[in-house]
Amino acid sequence: MGLPEGFRWGVATAAYQIEGAVDEDGRGPSTWDTFAHTPGRVRDGHTGDVACDHYHRWPEDVALMSGLGVGAYRFSIAWPRVQPSGSGPVNAKGLDFYDRLVDGLLAAGISPAATLYHWDLPQPLEDAGGWLERDTAYRFAEFSYLAAERLADRVDMWITLNEPVVVTAYGYAFAVYAPGKALLMDALPTAHHQLLAHGLAVTALRSRNARAVGLTNHYSPAWAATPADQPAADAFDAFMNRLFTDPVLLGRYPDLMGDAPYIRSADLSVIASPIDFLGVNYYQPTRLATPSEGPLPFDMVDITEYPTTGMGWPIVPDAFLSLLRTLDARYDLPPLYITENGCSFPDEVGADGTVDDSSRIEFLDAHIKAMRTAIDEGIDIRGYFAWSLLDNFEWSEGYHPRFGLVHVDYETQKRTPKKSYAWYRDLIASS
Ligand code: FCB
Repeated sequence: MGLPEGFRWGVATAAYQIEGAVDEDGRGPSTWDTFAHTPGRVRDGHTGDVACDHYHRWPEDVALMSGLGVGAYRFSIAWPRVQPSGSGPVNAKGLDFYDRLVDGLLAAGISPAATLYHWDLPQPLEDAGGWLERDTAYRFAEFSYLAAERLADRVDMWITLNEPVVVTAYGYAFAVYAPGKALLMDALPTAHHQLLAHGLAVTALRSRNARAVGLTNHYSPAWAATPADQPAADAFDAFMNRLFTDPVLLGRYPDLMGDAPYIRSADLSVIASPIDFLGVNYYQPTRLATPSEGPLPFDMVDITEYPTTGMGWPIVPDAFLSLLRTLDARYDLPPLYITENGCSFPDEVGADGTVDDSSRIEFLDAHIKAMRTAIDEGIDIRGYFAWSLLDNFEWSEGYHPRFGLVHVDYETQKRTPKKSYAWYRDLIASS
């Protein structure tokens, strides 16, 4: 079958991973600036100070998107550019940047899809407790309002949060990402406060006539290592796949939250405000076993029987299809967008100046086929965003993993479209 009318092919990026220019035009520090500049946190001490220098080179990057023929671009708006201290007045120059970018996209016929929070919390908010504090949710709604006040007449899709589960788990429970806290189960208030932030932002965005509002979650099918490990897989599933979706789509928490004192009676109705779409990020499944020790109800076990990406992530397109089926079975879903899917490989520019990333083509082809099967089965998927347009700063792995359709030489900032860029361009043109 064909794709639904109006289906959008896109590419995705995030502010801290590509922009650089961290001290320019009044931008304030974010938790990721602090984290990356703390020795030992990011591999080889890499930081996002320069990244892909997209803040200055965005016209070239929009031209690369034009060359691909994408219909949409998912980027994120850096909160510390717009509100350097996380509250108070707008830094107009920060918003000017996104204004220019959005106009540039529209001039190129590319629909702007803006994420409001892709992990770069203004540092002053973190100093006041960050997502452990309820107040951060209200600050986020205010920032969302300010961004929409300027851009809602031109942005087609608003994504409130990107992968809040990663912020809670990696940022606050296991200290792998900013802000680097190791609170284990005590990190759970950050889940509720992010969800509340999402719900409040939906209302704020709608009050500025935002065209379509949703959130993006990270999903990973949970595989039990043996039948006896099913409870461990269920516990992981509740945390990874349901904690940030059940409250939004069903208006209730999975059991793991219990009767937390920080959940107030009206909060769930705010969190369950209707959304126009759900963003799905998929990379890999996870295998779980009964924990031998430790505070968590599961142990993660390596999946070894599949080929892996450069980061060692198992390549399992069938798990992507089963995830889409599970979401469809579990919820009365709004339209879905695949807001991220992709892979890293140690791509190099060859002697002839080209980058042969055939493994990425295979990965994308298989995952897009899985998505098309889901569409054929009747699941309402309206778009697919490849992660990522450019090689970029991959969080605590620094610049080592390369996820881009376009290779970036970080010494010279030279962009070289890889073989997968031409492949994706041809796929878009033919569908
Ligand atoms: C996702 C993030 C994105 C990128 C990819 C590889 O979890 O949302 O920023 O780092 O992983």
